[in-house]
Amino acid sequence: MPKVVWLNGELSPLESAKVSVADHAHLYGDGLFEGIRIYGRRVFKLDEHLERLFHGTRYLGFEMTMTLPEMRAKILEVCRAADIDEGYIRLNVTRGTGLGLDPKKIDRRPNVMIMVGSLNLYAPEAFETGLHVVSSSYRVMTADSMDPRLKCIGRYGANILAKQEANAKGAGEALMLNAQGYLAECTGDNLFLVQNGIVRTPNPACGILKGITRDTVMGLARELGYEVTEEFLTSFDVFTADEAFLTGTAAEVIPMVSLDDRAIGDGLPGPVTRSIMRRFRIETTRGVPFDVAEPVPA
Ligand SMILES: Cc1ncc(COP(=O)(O)O)c(C=O)c1O
Repeated sequence: MPKVVWLNGELSPLESAKVSVADHAHLYGDGLFEGIRIYGRRVFKLDEHLERLFHGTRYLGFEMTMTLPEMRAKILEVCRAADIDEGYIRLNVTRGTGLGLDPKKIDRRPNVMIMVGSLNLYAPEAFETGLHVVSSSYRVMTADSMDPRLKCIGRYGANILAKQEANAKGAGEALMLNAQGYLAECTGDNLFLVQNGIVRTPNPACGILKGITRDTVMGLARELGYEVTEEFLTSFDVFTADEAFLTGTAAEVIPMVSLDDRAIGDGLPGPVTRSIMRRFRIETTRGVPFDVAEPVPA
């Protein structure tokens, strides 16, 4: 499926969309992004992604030229133009354009990109068999260097190094700890453990991105009757867990069956994981439909 890109007001195919080489995210990682799924011609958790993005723009002091409702309407319009049933939206906002670190000295009109295409992060079999995960030697950033709630492009250097570790060991993901040695998250997804029927996930204070899929899954798990806790967890908790799974917009809800070649539980996707995966699948039908144009509020 050819990708459609809306960049700073122009709709074009991926190949012809161009941004300046002096874009501040290209030079310094000074930008934010969101990955958003389209399920059945509906944009899943659109408002939650936009809220996270706009919290990021405020925190970083970007001088936005587009309001949240304008961006929301534009995303739905680009989805209509792409005309796809299932897909993935990549939304990038950078501070602006100009050489030099100092934001005062650059053209601070943000570069905004809405790209609509497809994404298959893991093969369908991986959702049946589960992922093998390795421990990464790279730690997540501390909140006093960059708040992990920020989905900042510049924060992903360590995650890419960790992903390379996973690739080198033939694993599907790498699990990163925080500076204190507590479990944080994988390179692009959040971690959940299941023990004695309790669904456990690292506390946001451990330096995780507060994933939108994580929040969704916590709500769904509670609805299914499970107790859900946010805790300070260590690898002890992984090795003694009955089940584990990962969540993310790209990864969706996927079982994790081993860490560093040691099976978690019986080494197979467990019943709690499977019930949450089934419930999540139903939830994905409840996105914002893009076929009907909504008026942009004044
Ligand atoms: C580091 C990291 N953690 C967790 C997640 C999962 O977040 P979400 O469910 O909002 O996609 C992502 C996804 O982008 C991520 O990059």
